[in-house]
Amino acid sequence: MAHRTVVAIDVGTTKICTVVAQVDDDTDEISVLGLGLTPSKGVERGVVVNIDDTISAIASSIERAERLSGYRITAVYVAATGRYLTSLNSRAAVAVAGPDREITANDITRATEAARSITIPMQREIVFLEPRTYVVDGNEDIRDPTGMFGYRLEVEAHIVVADRMLLENLIRSVQRSGAEINEVTIQSYAASWAVLSDDDREQGVVLVDIGGGTTDIAIFAKGRLWHSCVLPVGGGHFTNDIVLVMQLPYRTAEWLKLNYGSAIAEPCDDEEADIISAESFVPGEEQLVSRTLLNEVLHARAAELIQLILQEIRHSGYEGMLPAGIVLSGGAAQLPRFDELMRDHVGIPVRIGTPRGLTGLDDLVDRPEFATAIGLIRWGSHHGGLGDDDRQAMHESWVRRLFRFVRELWS
Ligand SMILES: Nc1ncnc2c1ncn2[C@@H]1O[C@H](COP(=O)(O)OP(=O)(O)OP(=O)(O)O)[C@@H](O)[C@H]1O
Ligand SMILES: [Mg+2]
Repeated sequence: MAHRTVVAIDVGTTKICTVVAQVDDDTDEISVLGLGLTPSKGVERGVVVNIDDTISAIASSIERAERLSGYRITAVYVAATGRYLTSLNSRAAVAVAGPDREITANDITRATEAARSITIPMQREIVFLEPRTYVVDGNEDIRDPTGMFGYRLEVEAHIVVADRMLLENLIRSVQRSGAEINEVTIQSYAASWAVLSDDDREQGVVLVDIGGGTTDIAIFAKGRLWHSCVLPVGGGHFTNDIVLVMQLPYRTAEWLKLNYGSAIAEPCDDEEADIISAESFVPGEEQLVSRTLLNEVLHARAAELIQLILQEIRHSGYEGMLPAGIVLSGGAAQLPRFDELMRDHVGIPVRIGTPRGLTGLDDLVDRPEFATAIGLIRWGSHHGGLGDDDRQAMHESWVRRLFRFVRELWS
């Protein structure tokens, strides 16, 4: 049984999460060896706004994951999100090279590279590119043209470009925390590797990851990523609305949301049962708040977010062709009855996705907010994550750490 050891770091708006895991090459099962979870610092809506804070939060998440797994982390997979990502679809064509006009992997690579060479402004760079469909001699909608006969091969690719400076800040934060980067992808695509099945992607599905600061959307059709986007709204906005309407400290608002929140506000006849006593801005003083009002505030934000998500689905041109429905991940997707409210609006199946195919410390990460990190692990393992040989690094861990500690003492 061959394994790959893979490390992923999810730099979120709310939490930083480092996962060390082994992926079984045959079954694709993920066995989690270690998890380092720390509150995020210096990140707003997916963007690094304070690099020193971000570095120290990532470093402590890495250290925790190393301690738990006994694995010395060297190289990691990372995913980007934020409004600095924009997506587009690009078409490019090449002439089929072989004398017998049979399309080979080489032709496909050349066509994909041609799609990559679209002109993008200097300050932006491609962070994701996947062919979504091929056209051979004018015949559209070809999934895999390998071995077909033709003169002209066109590829249509989904591309995500990032603001170079903001992407670089994310990359540097990870590198300066002591880890090299294997590869970077986008968060929605990463999360899809944790919660979607091949069948979902094949039939047509929307992945919606609602985190603390962003909502990442990925629409799959015919097995490929068709459309992706990032909305600058997340669970933090739900909490902020409570702060503003009820004039409460952020911490209290978050507590109310997590303990009494619902996306559907049921009117309550019993006034006493409707009242919650919560910590106010004045230390030691309680404030009485109405649960109905709390949930009306959450409902308004939830309904607005659902409309924004629906707009994106319409914009993709795939509305009506998504029988596998909507799969929700991310922490904020757990707001009670959010899925129900969404179901009422969209008329297609809506379900909450938790990372699938886990063994080991699976109960630690068996929740929707770990979709991005676990998805990165699976995606990384398919992109040449470390092989079994590298497991020896685990045994060096303590020796190396001691060495580092002594060296730091002397410096
Ligand atoms: N049971 C729950 N009900 C409502 N909201 C919840 C619940 N559990 C977590 N959340 C919210 O989920 C958000 C955090 O989600 P998550 O951990 O996926 O974010 P993140 O990955 O750090 O952020 P992002 O992906 O936006 O950068 C917080 O706003 C938190 O309040
Ligand atoms: Mg997230």
